[in-house]
Amino acid sequence: MNLNDKVTLVTGAGQGIGKGIADSLAEYGAHVIIAEINETTGKEAAVEIESRGGSAEAIQLDVTDYDLVKEAINAVVAQHGRIDVLVNNAGWDLPEPFLVSTPDTWAKVIAINYLGVVHTCHAALPHMIEAGRGRIVNIGSDAGRVGSSGEAVYSGAKGGVIAFSKTVAREVARKGIGINVVCPGPTDTPLVADLATTNEGLVKALERAIPMGRLGQPSDLGAAVAFMASDAAGFITGQTLSVSGGLTMA
Ligand SMILES: NC(=O)c1ccc[n+]([C@@H]2O[C@H](COP(=O)([O-])OP(=O)(O)OC[C@H]3O[C@@H](n4cnc5c(N)ncnc54)[C@H](O)[C@@H]3O)[C@@H](O)[C@H]2O)c1
Repeated sequence: MNLNDKVTLVTGAGQGIGKGIADSLAEYGAHVIIAEINETTGKEAAVEIESRGGSAEAIQLDVTDYDLVKEAINAVVAQHGRIDVLVNNAGWDLPEPFLVSTPDTWAKVIAINYLGVVHTCHAALPHMIEAGRGRIVNIGSDAGRVGSSGEAVYSGAKGGVIAFSKTVAREVARKGIGINVVCPGPTDTPLVADLATTNEGLVKALERAIPMGRLGQPSDLGAAVAFMASDAAGFITGQTLSVSGGLTMA
């Protein structure tokens, strides 16, 4: 399996899972464009990849702004001639019981986790259709498959990502484009580290619940996404893969 010379764009790849995905894509030979709202972490992640001999660049991008997304993806195609792989990883949540959550939080959760994916797909697909090929990997969550207490609207948004991905996968299957969803289970990232600061037993409880006995690492997700992004997965589309150490099955 290789991604040699593939032009790939990963959203929210300045830290956490997105950074692990960017690292894996670069290790398999791709040119990685880190599209990150946080300019500093995005640049640092690109520099790290380049320092290991990989090929990367960073662009500052807020996936909630459709016009900016369209402009950025058009600029990538103008510069590189194509976009082969799009990975929608940017995400955000504020875990809290549904009944104390507020409309402002719902709007932010939906804008980043759901509409962000809609925006980038709408901007990238015309270029992929013109090229007659392309791979899209959307990062969902097991929350979107089986629910997750304290993450009601986020779970809905991630469930929406799964249904959206399946529908668009059907619409573009005959254009040479594959779209799949990779769903992390609990993964060792700054997002989970933040939660652990207010819930001391969280990590231990998760380790007990996960059949493989540990949290996911960003590299676990990177490997799964690299496969889905590669030509090796060329006959796979509309699928949802849980990368969770067996926490959820089927
Ligand atoms: N960590 C987990 O346990 C876990 C579990 C299931 C699913 N996920 C999903 O995996 C993905 C990555 O999660 P993570 O844990 O690495 O999170 P994280 O908070 O560590 O990283 C998210 C990244 O997205 C960026 N981002 C946020 N809003 C953005 C925007 N509007 N435009 C562009 N970039 C933006 C952030 O700056 C950050 O770099 C998310 O989609 C998340 O929902 C994570």
